[in-house]
Amino acid sequence: MPAPTPTTDQIMQYEADHVAQTYKRAPFVLSHGAGVTLFDTDGNAYLDWVAGIAVNALGYGDPELTQVIQSAATGLIHVSNLYHTAPQAQLAKALCERSFADRVFFCNSGTEAVEGAIKFARKAAYEKGRTDKTEIVTFTGAFHGRSMGALALTPREKYQKPFQPLMPGAKLAEFNNLESARAVINERTAAVIVEPVQGEGGIHPATTEFLRGLRDLCNQHQALLIFDEIQCGMGRTGTLWAHEFSGITPDIMTLAKPLAGGLPVGAILLTEAVANTMHPGEHGTTFAGGPLVTGVANVVLERVSQPEFLAHVQKVGDYLIERLSEINSPLIKAVRGRGLMVGLELTVEVTPLVESGYRHGLILVNAGTHVLRFVPPLVVEKQHVDTLVERLTAMLAAHKG
Ligand SMILES: Cc1ncc(COP(=O)(O)O)c(C=O)c1O
Repeated sequence: MPAPTPTTDQIMQYEADHVAQTYKRAPFVLSHGAGVTLFDTDGNAYLDWVAGIAVNALGYGDPELTQVIQSAATGLIHVSNLYHTAPQAQLAKALCERSFADRVFFCNSGTEAVEGAIKFARKAAYEKGRTDKTEIVTFTGAFHGRSMGALALTPREKYQKPFQPLMPGAKLAEFNNLESARAVINERTAAVIVEPVQGEGGIHPATTEFLRGLRDLCNQHQALLIFDEIQCGMGRTGTLWAHEFSGITPDIMTLAKPLAGGLPVGAILLTEAVANTMHPGEHGTTFAGGPLVTGVANVVLERVSQPEFLAHVQKVGDYLIERLSEINSPLIKAVRGRGLMVGLELTVEVTPLVESGYRHGLILVNAGTHVLRFVPPLVVEKQHVDTLVERLTAMLAAHKG
């Protein structure tokens, strides 16, 4: 007999007693969702501005997504990369046709994609006999993950300090400062990694000049340019890839979060020259690119690539920035972002506002200490923006220190 469904209090107690306490969870239990709304076990509704942290691009209960997951589940779920399956091959082809890339390596998360990108970059140098070319340049405010390599490229003391020594060879420059980048990129640089729009660091778009300058510096020093589009890619900024505004392309691009509509997935997009430096057995993982996950990702990619879908993201994103900019509150310092990746920088810490959001039927998340980040399902509508702005205005007016 299956165990009886636990009560809301029991669920929270089990979590407190048995789950490793590495997350601070909201004080309710989510049970289901519809569109851009989440519901908890007590029947409360929340307008979702987080989307599982920039993951659930098609929102909740999307009929096509549900149908494809159901039908994929009746087929093969996993077989290993020792064998061919159609969905993985189709997804690789579709990703390459829609990007700069010639080949794709699949993995299971963003961190894994970054970790793999580091290995590809190092291997590309090694294959040329350049065993001295091992440095990876990263930028202030970057977030690339929490494994020992990716963490070395995530320059936040709180995250890094207890885990030293990390991967050697990480070099830090200032984001959006080309002179600072020029000072650390040299013949020892294997790769430069950058988010075209920084997410966790507080929603900071890179400038066109900065990305182009990095491309030139990489060319000059035979270093690879890696764009981390794990958070900003796949339609989030109103173009399929966030870097499109810059008019340049990378050698490697990491993807994850929304690619399979909420199922765990990661992908490393590669030029032919980079991909060809890694040979059978030199990198791999058990679950990656499985037929169920990639079957679903094919549908998500097809949907978010549609020009009407991207135009919708652009339109609602512009409206979000416009409406947030109209809020008259002394607590607001700046509104910035691109598409549906928007940050509201405040003069106060945002954690109390995230908590107050729960009481006002809003799911909100921070990016750093002073920025509220809006990364909703990409199917959000203008009317939801109006509801957000109305509630947020009231919350900011009532905010005490
Ligand atoms: C830009 C960026 N890179 C890497 C990661 C790590 O991805 P994951 O949490 O899937 O391991 C994240 C996660 O927030 C991210 O935003």
